[in-house]
Amino acid sequence: MSLEMIVATDRNGAIGKGNQLLWHLPADLKYFKNTTFGHMVLMGRKTFESIGKPLPGRENVVLTRSGFKAEGITVIQDVDAFFAQTKTEKKIFIIGGAEVYKLFIHRVQFVHQTWVDAVFPDADTFFPIMELKNNFILIRNLCQPKDDKNPYDYCFRLWQKK
Ligand SMILES: NC(=O)c1ccc[n+]([C@@H]2O[C@H](COP(=O)([O-])OP(=O)(O)OC[C@H]3O[C@@H](n4cnc5c(N)ncnc54)[C@H](OP(=O)(O)O)[C@@H]3O)[C@@H](O)[C@H]2O)c1
Repeated sequence: MSLEMIVATDRNGAIGKGNQLLWHLPADLKYFKNTTFGHMVLMGRKTFESIGKPLPGRENVVLTRSGFKAEGITVIQDVDAFFAQTKTEKKIFIIGGAEVYKLFIHRVQFVHQTWVDAVFPDADTFFPIMELKNNFILIRNLCQPKDDKNPYDYCFRLWQKK
Protein backbone atom coordinates (compact mmCIF):
# COMPACT_ATOMS: atom_id res chain seq x y z
CA MET A 1 0.00 0.00 0.00
CA SER A 2 1.42 3.38 -0.93
CA LEU A 3 0.40 6.51 0.95
CA GLU A 4 0.72 9.96 -0.60
CA MET A 5 -0.65 13.40 0.19
CA ILE A 6 -1.91 16.11 -2.14
CA VAL A 7 -2.52 19.74 -1.20
CA ALA A 8 -2.59 23.26 -2.62
CA THR A 9 -1.17 25.97 -0.36
CA ASP A 10 -0.42 29.66 -0.55
CA ARG A 11 3.08 30.97 0.25
CA ASN A 12 2.37 30.62 4.00
CA GLY A 13 0.73 27.21 3.93
CA ALA A 14 -2.87 28.47 3.96
CA ILE A 15 -5.37 26.01 2.45
CA GLY A 16 -8.88 27.22 3.23
CA LYS A 17 -11.38 29.62 4.69
CA GLY A 18 -14.96 29.03 5.87
CA ASN A 19 -14.68 25.37 4.78
CA GLN A 20 -13.92 26.42 1.19
CA LEU A 21 -10.80 26.70 -0.94
CA LEU A 22 -9.10 30.10 -1.20
CA TRP A 23 -8.81 30.31 -5.01
CA HIS A 24 -10.15 28.97 -8.26
CA LEU A 25 -7.19 27.55 -10.13
CA PRO A 26 -8.34 25.23 -12.95
CA ALA A 27 -4.78 24.02 -13.61
CA ASP A 28 -4.61 22.74 -10.04
CA LEU A 29 -8.01 21.02 -10.28
CA LYS A 30 -6.78 19.27 -13.44
CA TYR A 31 -3.52 18.23 -11.74
CA PHE A 32 -5.48 16.95 -8.73
CA LYS A 33 -7.81 14.90 -10.94
CA ASN A 34 -5.01 13.45 -13.09
CA THR A 35 -2.95 12.53 -10.02
CA THR A 36 -5.70 10.93 -7.95
CA PHE A 37 -7.93 9.37 -10.64
CA GLY A 38 -8.34 5.61 -10.28
CA HIS A 39 -6.92 5.62 -6.75
CA MET A 40 -8.34 5.80 -3.24
CA VAL A 41 -8.83 9.26 -1.70
CA LEU A 42 -9.01 9.68 2.08
CA MET A 43 -10.38 12.93 3.55
CA GLY A 44 -11.86 14.49 6.68
CA ARG A 45 -15.62 14.88 7.05
CA LYS A 46 -15.41 18.67 6.64
CA THR A 47 -13.52 18.40 3.36
CA PHE A 48 -16.06 15.87 2.07
CA GLU A 49 -18.90 18.24 2.95
CA SER A 50 -17.04 21.09 1.29
CA ILE A 51 -16.69 19.07 -1.95
CA GLY A 52 -20.35 18.02 -1.58
CA LYS A 53 -20.23 14.67 -3.39
CA PRO A 54 -17.95 11.68 -3.88
CA LEU A 55 -15.11 12.35 -6.34
CA PRO A 56 -15.87 10.28 -9.45
CA GLY A 57 -13.49 7.55 -10.58
CA ARG A 58 -11.96 7.24 -7.13
CA GLU A 59 -12.76 5.20 -4.02
CA ASN A 60 -13.81 7.84 -1.47
CA VAL A 61 -13.01 7.24 2.21
CA VAL A 62 -14.16 9.78 4.81
CA LEU A 63 -12.85 10.04 8.36
CA THR A 64 -15.36 10.99 11.09
CA ARG A 65 -16.00 10.43 14.78
CA SER A 66 -19.59 11.62 14.59
CA GLY A 67 -21.47 8.85 12.77
CA PHE A 68 -21.68 10.93 9.55
CA LYS A 69 -22.98 8.97 6.54
CA ALA A 70 -23.44 9.69 2.83
CA GLU A 71 -23.98 7.71 -0.35
CA GLY A 72 -20.99 6.58 -2.39
CA ILE A 73 -18.39 6.81 0.36
CA THR A 74 -16.78 4.50 2.89
CA VAL A 75 -16.86 6.02 6.37
CA ILE A 76 -14.13 5.19 8.87
CA GLN A 77 -13.64 6.13 12.50
CA ASP A 78 -10.39 4.43 13.30
CA VAL A 79 -7.47 4.96 10.93
CA ASP A 80 -5.30 2.15 12.32
CA ALA A 81 -8.11 -0.40 12.16
CA PHE A 82 -8.84 0.69 8.59
CA PHE A 83 -5.23 0.22 7.47
CA ALA A 84 -4.99 -3.10 9.27
CA GLN A 85 -8.04 -4.37 7.32
CA THR A 86 -7.36 -2.76 3.94
CA LYS A 87 -5.56 -4.86 1.38
CA THR A 88 -5.65 -2.49 -1.56
CA GLU A 89 -3.16 -2.40 -4.43
CA LYS A 90 -4.26 1.16 -5.08
CA LYS A 91 -2.40 4.24 -4.02
CA ILE A 92 -4.09 6.05 -1.16
CA PHE A 93 -4.08 9.84 -1.44
CA ILE A 94 -4.65 11.90 1.69
CA ILE A 95 -6.57 14.90 0.33
CA GLY A 96 -7.18 17.01 3.46
CA GLY A 97 -8.17 19.06 5.23
CA ALA A 98 -5.86 20.47 7.88
CA GLU A 99 -6.81 18.05 10.66
CA VAL A 100 -6.26 15.07 8.41
CA TYR A 101 -3.02 16.43 6.92
CA LYS A 102 -1.67 16.80 10.48
CA LEU A 103 -2.77 13.27 11.31
CA PHE A 104 -0.95 11.76 8.29
CA ILE A 105 2.05 13.98 7.54
CA HIS A 106 4.39 11.57 9.36
CA ARG A 107 3.00 8.51 7.56
CA VAL A 108 3.17 9.50 3.87
CA GLN A 109 6.10 8.89 1.49
CA PHE A 110 5.29 11.70 -0.95
CA VAL A 111 3.55 15.08 -0.79
CA HIS A 112 2.24 16.69 -3.98
CA GLN A 113 2.05 20.40 -3.22
CA THR A 114 0.62 22.98 -5.57
CA TRP A 115 2.40 26.10 -4.36
CA VAL A 116 0.29 29.16 -5.16
CA ASP A 117 2.35 32.34 -5.39
CA ALA A 118 0.03 34.53 -3.30
CA VAL A 119 -0.85 35.25 0.33
CA PHE A 120 -4.39 35.03 1.73
CA PRO A 121 -4.43 36.91 5.07
CA ASP A 122 -8.05 35.86 5.81
CA ALA A 123 -7.31 32.13 5.65
CA ASP A 124 -8.41 30.09 8.66
CA THR A 125 -6.99 26.66 7.80
CA PHE A 126 -3.31 25.76 7.33
CA PHE A 127 -1.17 22.87 6.14
CA PRO A 128 1.60 21.72 8.56
CA ILE A 129 4.24 23.42 6.42
CA MET A 130 7.14 23.15 8.92
CA GLU A 131 6.71 19.36 9.12
CA LEU A 132 6.91 19.31 5.32
CA LYS A 133 10.05 21.44 5.15
CA ASN A 134 11.80 19.57 7.98
CA ASN A 135 11.01 16.00 7.00
CA PHE A 136 10.79 15.95 3.20
CA ILE A 137 13.11 16.74 0.26
CA LEU A 138 11.88 18.65 -2.77
CA ILE A 139 12.43 16.38 -5.78
CA ARG A 140 10.35 18.18 -8.48
CA ASN A 141 9.33 21.79 -8.95
CA LEU A 142 7.48 22.69 -12.16
CA CYS A 143 6.38 26.33 -12.25
CA GLN A 144 3.88 28.07 -14.49
CA PRO A 145 3.01 31.74 -14.89
CA LYS A 146 -0.54 32.95 -14.42
CA ASP A 147 -2.72 33.07 -17.54
CA ASP A 148 -6.28 33.91 -18.61
CA LYS A 149 -7.78 31.07 -16.58
CA ASN A 150 -5.34 30.83 -13.66
CA PRO A 151 -5.00 34.12 -11.75
CA TYR A 152 -1.77 33.28 -9.85
CA ASP A 153 1.67 31.94 -10.69
CA TYR A 154 1.98 28.42 -9.28
CA CYS A 155 4.37 25.49 -8.98
CA PHE A 156 3.67 21.77 -8.87
CA ARG A 157 6.06 20.51 -6.21
CA LEU A 158 6.78 16.90 -5.28
CA TRP A 159 8.33 16.20 -1.88
CA GLN A 160 9.78 12.85 -0.80
CA LYS A 161 10.18 11.78 2.80
CA LYS A 162 13.82 11.94 3.98
N1 LIG B 1 -6.10 23.61 -0.39
C1 LIG B 1 -6.27 22.28 -0.33
O1 LIG B 1 -5.55 21.52 -0.96
C2 LIG B 1 -7.35 21.73 0.57
C3 LIG B 1 -7.62 20.35 0.56
C4 LIG B 1 -8.61 19.86 1.40
C5 LIG B 1 -9.32 20.73 2.22
N2 LIG B 1 -9.04 22.05 2.18
C6 LIG B 1 -9.74 22.99 3.05
O2 LIG B 1 -9.52 22.58 4.41
C7 LIG B 1 -10.65 22.99 5.19
C8 LIG B 1 -11.18 21.79 5.97
O3 LIG B 1 -10.17 21.32 6.84
P1 LIG B 1 -10.45 21.01 8.40
O4 LIG B 1 -9.15 20.78 9.05
O5 LIG B 1 -11.35 22.08 8.92
O6 LIG B 1 -11.34 19.69 8.36
P2 LIG B 1 -11.06 18.19 7.79
O7 LIG B 1 -9.67 17.75 8.15
O8 LIG B 1 -11.48 18.12 6.37
O9 LIG B 1 -12.14 17.35 8.61
C9 LIG B 1 -12.09 17.34 10.01
C10 LIG B 1 -13.02 16.25 10.50
O10 LIG B 1 -12.46 14.97 10.22
C11 LIG B 1 -12.81 14.06 11.24
N3 LIG B 1 -11.58 13.62 11.92
C12 LIG B 1 -10.41 14.29 12.06
N4 LIG B 1 -9.52 13.55 12.74
C13 LIG B 1 -10.12 12.37 13.02
C14 LIG B 1 -9.70 11.18 13.69
N5 LIG B 1 -8.47 11.06 14.22
N6 LIG B 1 -10.58 10.16 13.77
C15 LIG B 1 -11.82 10.26 13.25
N7 LIG B 1 -12.28 11.38 12.60
C16 LIG B 1 -11.43 12.41 12.49
C17 LIG B 1 -13.74 14.82 12.20
O11 LIG B 1 -15.05 14.65 11.67
P3 LIG B 1 -16.39 14.69 12.60
O12 LIG B 1 -16.49 16.12 13.08
O13 LIG B 1 -17.49 14.27 11.69
O14 LIG B 1 -16.14 13.73 13.73
C18 LIG B 1 -13.27 16.25 12.00
O15 LIG B 1 -14.22 17.23 12.37
C19 LIG B 1 -11.65 23.58 4.21
O16 LIG B 1 -11.48 25.01 4.17
C20 LIG B 1 -11.23 22.97 2.89
O17 LIG B 1 -11.64 23.76 1.78
C21 LIG B 1 -8.07 22.57 1.38
